[in-house]
Amino acid sequence: MAVETPVIVINYKAYPESIGPAALELSKLADALAREKRASVVVCPPVSDLFCVQAEVGIPVWGQAADAVEPGGRTGHVTCEMLVNAGAEGLLVNHSERRLQLADMEWLVARARRLKLDTCVCTNNVAVSRAAAALGPDFVAVEPPELIGGDVSVTTADPEVVRRSVEEVRRVDPKVRVLCGAGVKNGKDVSKAIELGAQGVLLASGVVKAKDKRATLLDLIAGLK
Ligand code: G3P
Repeated sequence: MAVETPVIVINYKAYPESIGPAALELSKLADALAREKRASVVVCPPVSDLFCVQAEVGIPVWGQAADAVEPGGRTGHVTCEMLVNAGAEGLLVNHSERRLQLADMEWLVARARRLKLDTCVCTNNVAVSRAAAALGPDFVAVEPPELIGGDVSVTTADPEVVRRSVEEVRRVDPKVRVLCGAGVKNGKDVSKAIELGAQGVLLASGVVKAKDKRATLLDLIAGLK
């Protein structure tokens, strides 16, 4: 399913608040609100929950990572083929908490494309955003690692990294859409990201750790307008 933009991509990471039954509950809430508000939302549950989440929602479900390996004798690995069979429609690549070598990023983007999985390559600055765009992913998500999990949104702390990543990615491959993330918490951060040229946000703790997930998601979705 082609992801509509602007989009909110929610990375569940490995937080206790977003694994197992909690992952399913959050995904159903995101799905219901995305439908109610006709908004584009993607969820990235842990791989252990991916199959059961995608069976219960209509919004795209992505993997948080994959290994650049062929199927076969690969104990403990997660292949792109496994994500496809679990019902995923895309995956994050090179998240700063799962950094890859450039050759692995290229391998994964090419294999995902062949398997019709969307790819969102995560980057930490403008130069890496520019390089990632050359791999031809569907999305580049720029996230300064030092801001991840913090209380200040990248759109406030470092708007230039967003604006310049959008500019550089567009120069390399205008088909690649840019998201930004790190510290994104509310609708204001989302609309600022869009003002800076991004086509959405990638976030985690702002939703997963929210006291009122419904109110938080509604506020974030309002920022897409
Ligand atoms: O993948 C998104 C994530 O790295 C951002 O984390 O908690 O700052 O929204 P957070």
